[in-house]
Amino acid sequence: MDAKLNACMGAMKYLKDGMVLGLGTGSTVFHFINLVGEEMKKGKKFVCVATSFDTEMLAKKNGIPIVSLDQVSKIDLAVDGADIIGKEYVLKGGGGALAREKVVGYFADKFLVVVDEGKLKLKSYPVVVECLPFAYATVMKAMENLGAKPKLRSGGGKVGPVVSDNGNFILDCEMKITNAKKLEQDINAIPGVVENGIFTKFSKIIVGTESGSREL
Ligand code: 5RP
Repeated sequence: MDAKLNACMGAMKYLKDGMVLGLGTGSTVFHFINLVGEEMKKGKKFVCVATSFDTEMLAKKNGIPIVSLDQVSKIDLAVDGADIIGKEYVLKGGGGALAREKVVGYFADKFLVVVDEGKLKLKSYPVVVECLPFAYATVMKAMENLGAKPKLRSGGGKVGPVVSDNGNFILDCEMKITNAKKLEQDINAIPGVVENGIFTKFSKIIVGTESGSREL
């Protein structure tokens, strides 16, 4: 079976009827959203906050009610993918949804990261930074001062810079990570930065393989 699906199957034991869910973004959590839809067809009830337009559309297709963050007082469980698994951190933002993903994941009582085991083998991935379009040049300079080689993300069905669901630019920053927690804070202290893709706060990583899943 698909390792991404297996990772999401592994997350299903944390799902309880009536929960408020945070739904991440990407090809792994895609399976979790479909599984939540199946549970709803069996009569379970969930209310969900989506971290991107893509996730919102998929959830609606599955009959999952989507609410905005200001309509819930808590999120019981957030489930999301990641691009690479580091030591005490994960890197996210491949899909450009990192800002909403961090808001939802960090706010949730439980935040599960679901990945296929290929993500454990990857050696490097850029630190993704979402920034105000107005400030992209100064943010790039500040990222260089932190030792990064930043690139403005572009392409993919549009000429010019990729614009996030929040109307911002995305920078892919090749850099070394030695102290992830400090770097996460240092990047967010740059004026014009909205959020970065270093995630140091999560409950569990669930790794899917072809035959099942395991927890880290
Ligand atoms: C989007 C993300 C995704 O969670 C991350 O890119 C993993 O995606 P996939 O499950 O498709 O590999 O951070 O911003």
